[in-house]
Amino acid sequence: MNILATLQRNIMIPEKYKQMSSEELEDRVIDLKKQLGSRLFIPGHHYQKDEVIQFADATGDSLKLAQLSAANTEAEFIVFCGVHFMAETADILTSENQKVVLPDMRAGCSMADMADIQQTERAWGKLQAIFGDTILPLTYVNSTAAIKAFVGANGGATVTSSNAETMVKWAFEKKERILFLPDQHLGRNTAADLDVGLDEMAIWNPINDSLEYEGDVSKIKVILWKGHCSVHENFTVQNVSDIRSQYPDMNIIVHLECRREIVELSDKAGSTSYIINAIEKAELGSAWAIGTEMNLVNRLIKNHPDKHIISLNPHMCPCLTMNRIDLPHLVWSLDTLEETNNIIKVSPEIAKNAKLALERMLTIS
Ligand code: 13P
Ligand code: SF4
Repeated sequence: MNILATLQRNIMIPEKYKQMSSEELEDRVIDLKKQLGSRLFIPGHHYQKDEVIQFADATGDSLKLAQLSAANTEAEFIVFCGVHFMAETADILTSENQKVVLPDMRAGCSMADMADIQQTERAWGKLQAIFGDTILPLTYVNSTAAIKAFVGANGGATVTSSNAETMVKWAFEKKERILFLPDQHLGRNTAADLDVGLDEMAIWNPINDSLEYEGDVSKIKVILWKGHCSVHENFTVQNVSDIRSQYPDMNIIVHLECRREIVELSDKAGSTSYIINAIEKAELGSAWAIGTEMNLVNRLIKNHPDKHIISLNPHMCPCLTMNRIDLPHLVWSLDTLEETNNIIKVSPEIAKNAKLALERMLTIS
């Protein structure tokens, strides 16, 4: 068998799953979950499709899913309904005999891909040459295991959007400066909320290996990696002004991956769990424009018919990589658990230091 055929056999979903009806697929998941019992655990991120999330044993934001993975010692198979970096995190935090499966190996994250280890090592060398040993690296969990390992090996920690403030404060107790990877917006929003001036933040450009900053570099407290989420960058100042003029009483709530100007113009900002809790606690009849991924916004609209909820951007799409996990891929992965090639396995050398970074965060959060 040639390489392409092997890849197709192992990685591409067999046609028969695409031909099955929704009822057949749903019945199959119900059967398989019954058969496997506590040997199987299905965590699902809030951005997953409804057709998948209905079968999740637990749903959560990145922090909660990391905590749940660390706590689960029972399941032999963890079928992760989320994206690649989340499945890597689950593998790092679970034991050797637990298998983490990603139903579609193409479910990556464009933000995580914006920082690779070679770029990061080059950046670190140059930054050390400018600032000496004054920098602590922090990485958003939306990063590869190799980046987490780099951060762990250099005394730093991971952060999520629900604990970024706590982690940035922790980092400043240790060092004078922070290198924040790979999401410039979460880094900027968090540091600004902790009263770091925008003029005390520089950008590291990994494409041309340069520090983007005008002025006296000794003033820099935060170095932001030039990465972003391609979903959350689609919310614009124009979207905010359209909502303000069309619906003057509407509240605007956005994810911290949105650009600084959007967060500043909004009423509230936080992680996916923060957004869900705010909508749950909101008064009946209140009105909300939400700036985050569309599967979550649609679920909130459906679950809260007593509130007026819309997307901050009327032309918003779901996260395409999160959407790769669909019901056919879930059934395929459950059907082939014993022989699947969709296993996420981080090498022991990388896992060791990545775990240090994750555990520093989990201890504090
Ligand atoms: P949280 O669920 O941690 O808010 O993260 C959002 C996200 O972009 C996950 O990819
Ligand atoms: Fe990555 Fe953005 Fe999709 Fe989250 S929403 S998985 S950060 S591309």
